[in-house]
Amino acid sequence: MKLRLTLLFCLLVCLPGILIAADTPTIKIETENISLIYRVGDNGRLYQHYLGRKLTYESDLNHLPQGTEAYLTHGMEDYFEPAIQILHNDGNPSLLLKYVTHSSSSLEGGVNETIITLQDDKYPVTIKLHYISYDKEDIIKTFTEISHREKKPVILSRYASSMLHLNRAKYFLTEFAGDWAHEANITEQELDFGKKVVDTKLGARANMFVSPFFQLAVDRKAEENSGEVLVGNIGWTGNFQFTFEVDNKNELRIISGINPYASEYQLPANETFRTPDFYFTYSFEGRGQASRNFHDWARRYQLKDGDKTRMTLLNNWEATYFDFNEDKLIGLMDEAVKLGVDMFLLDDGWFANKYPRSGDHQGLGDWDETKDKLPNGVGRLVEEAKKKGIKFGIWIEPEMVNPKSELYEKHKDWVIHLPNRDEYYFRNQMVLDLSNPAVQDHVFGVVDKLMTNYPDIAFFKWDCNSPITNIYSPYLKNKQSHLYIKHVRGLYNVLERVKAKYPNLPMMLCAGGGGRSDYEALKYFTEFWPSDNTDPIERLFIQWGFSQIFPSKTLCAHVTTWNRSASIKFRTDVAMMGKLGFDIKLEDMNGDEQQFCRQAVGHYNQLKPAILEGDLYRLVSPYGSNHTSSMFVDKDKKSAVVFAFDIYPRYGEKLLPVRLQGLDRYKKYRVKEINMMPGSGSSLQGNDQLFSGEYLMTVGLNMFTTQRLHSRVIEIVAQ
Ligand code: DGJ
Repeated sequence: MKLRLTLLFCLLVCLPGILIAADTPTIKIETENISLIYRVGDNGRLYQHYLGRKLTYESDLNHLPQGTEAYLTHGMEDYFEPAIQILHNDGNPSLLLKYVTHSSSSLEGGVNETIITLQDDKYPVTIKLHYISYDKEDIIKTFTEISHREKKPVILSRYASSMLHLNRAKYFLTEFAGDWAHEANITEQELDFGKKVVDTKLGARANMFVSPFFQLAVDRKAEENSGEVLVGNIGWTGNFQFTFEVDNKNELRIISGINPYASEYQLPANETFRTPDFYFTYSFEGRGQASRNFHDWARRYQLKDGDKTRMTLLNNWEATYFDFNEDKLIGLMDEAVKLGVDMFLLDDGWFANKYPRSGDHQGLGDWDETKDKLPNGVGRLVEEAKKKGIKFGIWIEPEMVNPKSELYEKHKDWVIHLPNRDEYYFRNQMVLDLSNPAVQDHVFGVVDKLMTNYPDIAFFKWDCNSPITNIYSPYLKNKQSHLYIKHVRGLYNVLERVKAKYPNLPMMLCAGGGGRSDYEALKYFTEFWPSDNTDPIERLFIQWGFSQIFPSKTLCAHVTTWNRSASIKFRTDVAMMGKLGFDIKLEDMNGDEQQFCRQAVGHYNQLKPAILEGDLYRLVSPYGSNHTSSMFVDKDKKSAVVFAFDIYPRYGEKLLPVRLQGLDRYKKYRVKEINMMPGSGSSLQGNDQLFSGEYLMTVGLNMFTTQRLHSRVIEIVAQ
C-alpha cells in the first residue's frame, strides 16, 4: 500500500516534467563524432543547444543551457544578422517561427535525415530545416525550404541555407581568397565583435576572388593535427555569402547561403524556395582530419564518379594556344601516346567559321569546326585518337558568347546585358542568359550535338571565363532581381540533362582557372582546373589550399613550361599530387626529360590507389617554410607515397626529419625513393630499407635537402 502511494506521488510530481519534456522535444543530429542538438523552448521556438564533440549520454542533454534561436528571423527581438527576412502581403516584415514537428529517417547505411518544420504563428509561412548526416565521414549537409500560402507572393530578402551558433572563448577564421592565377590563398584572422562577410557578386566564374568554403577554429588558431575546427562549404555555383558575426556576448553565428545581394525573391504561394546545400564537418584533430572527412564524403556521396579512377592526359592549350591545325594535333596525339597518358584533350580554338576562333576575341558561341583548321572535322581527330589507342576529349565554353559571333548576331536577346548602356566585355565576351529555357536548350545542345556527331568523345573540359556584368535579363523582364538565382538554376538544369543523357561522360570544370570550385558543381564534374598558374612553386600553395576541401582526384595538375628554373622532375612531382596531366610539347624537353615523364606516368598509374583514393596527410606546410611535404596512404595502410619539396632552402639550414602519418605502427615498410631522373641515384638516408610504421611516425625520415627546387617521391610499401 505504502509502495503504491509512493508510486502515485512520484507520478504526480513527475508528470508535469514528462509533459514538458514531450512538449519540448530534443532533436539530435549526430555523426560518429559530432552532435548538433536542438530543443524546443517553453515558448515553442527552436533553439540550438549544442554543437561540438558527440555527447553520448542522453541524461546529460538536460543539463545543456538553452543556446540561441536556431534560425533567427528579421523583425523580432534579435539585434544581429538574421537567417531569413520576409515581407508579407500586408506589408508586415516580421517572422516568428514556432516548432511544429520533426522527423528522422535512415536513408542508407550510416546516412540519416532529420527535417524540422517551423511555422509562423500568424502567417501561413513554413520553414523546413533539413539535416542529412553522414555518420562515418562526420559530415552534415543542411538546407532550408521556404514556402507559404499567402494570397500574393511574399518577398524574400534573405534566405540562408544554414545558421550555426558557437559559444567559445575565441574564433579564428581561415578564408581562401585570391585572384586569377593566385587562387585559394590561405589567410587566418581572429574574429572580434562585429561582422566579417565573405562573399562574391560575380554571378558566373563566381569564385575568381574567393572560394566557397572556410575553416573556423575555436579557442586557438587552426593547426594541421590538433584543435577544433568547423569547416563549411556552400554548394552554389554562383553568388554565395558567409557571414560570421560575433555579438555582445562573444557568441558567434555563422550564416551561409546564396548572397542575397540584388536578389530579392518574389515567392508565389505553394512554390518552395529550396536553398543550396551547406555542408560542414567538425574536426577535433585540426584541419587535416576535416580534409579527410570531406575527401571521403565527396568520393562516396558527392562527386561525379567519386568512386572511379581518373584519366591522365595531354592537353594542347599551352603547347599550341590557338595556333594549330589537324596535322599538329595528330602529332600531339603521337606525343600523348609516347608519354603513355590515357587521353588527348583538344582545347580552345577549334570552332567558328564566319569569325574563326583564332584568338579569344571572336567566335565563341559558334560551335562548328573551323574548316581551314580542321577540314575533316572533330570526327577525324576522334578516329585518329582511337587508332592510336587513346581517348579524345574536347574543350567547350557553352555559356558564353563573343559579340563577334554569329550567335550574338542572331540572338542578342539571349545575352545578359543592359539594353540602354554600353556593353562591357570581360575577356572580350559576355554571359548567356541561362534563366531563359531557350538558352538552356542551346547550352545543352552544344554537348548534345558533339556527342551525337562523335559518340566516341570521352571527356569535356567545360570552361567559363567571364563573370556577369551589366546585369539585365531580356527574358526575366520585370523580375530582374531573380536573375542571379535563376541563372545558376538554369545552369543546373542543363547539367542535369547532360548527366542524364551521358551518365558516363567525365568532365573537367574550369573557369579561367579555379573560378568555379564548389561541391554542387562537382556533382556533375569529375574534376576541376584549380588555376591557370602551373608554376610548380605557386601550385604547391594553390594545391595545398584546395586540398583542404577537395580530394586529389578532383585537382587537375598539369606539367607545363611555367617556371623553367624548376626541373621537369620538380614540375612533374608537384603535378603527381593531383590528377596528373601534361600541357607541354615533347620538343620542350630533352631525351632524358621525356624518358623521365614516361616513367613518371607509369609510377603515377601504380600510385593511383594511394593518391586518388587514399588518405591525405599534409606533413609540412609551404606557408612560412622553405620546404613542404604531403603524403597519401591507401585505405588499408599497405602502401603510401610521400612527396617532399625543397623550395628555397637557406644556406646552412638545420634540417629535421619529417614524421610520417597515417601508417600502421605495427607494420614493417620498405622505404624507396622513386621517380628519379634517368641515371641518377637516391641520396635518401635509409633508402630501400625496412622501417616500422612506429619509427616512421615517431622519428621520421630525413627527406629535405638544402638544394634549391629539389624534390623527392618516396614509396612506402608494407612487407
Ligand atoms: C581558360 C582556361 O583556364 C585555360 O586552361 C584554357 O582552357 C583557356 N581558358 C582557353 O581559352
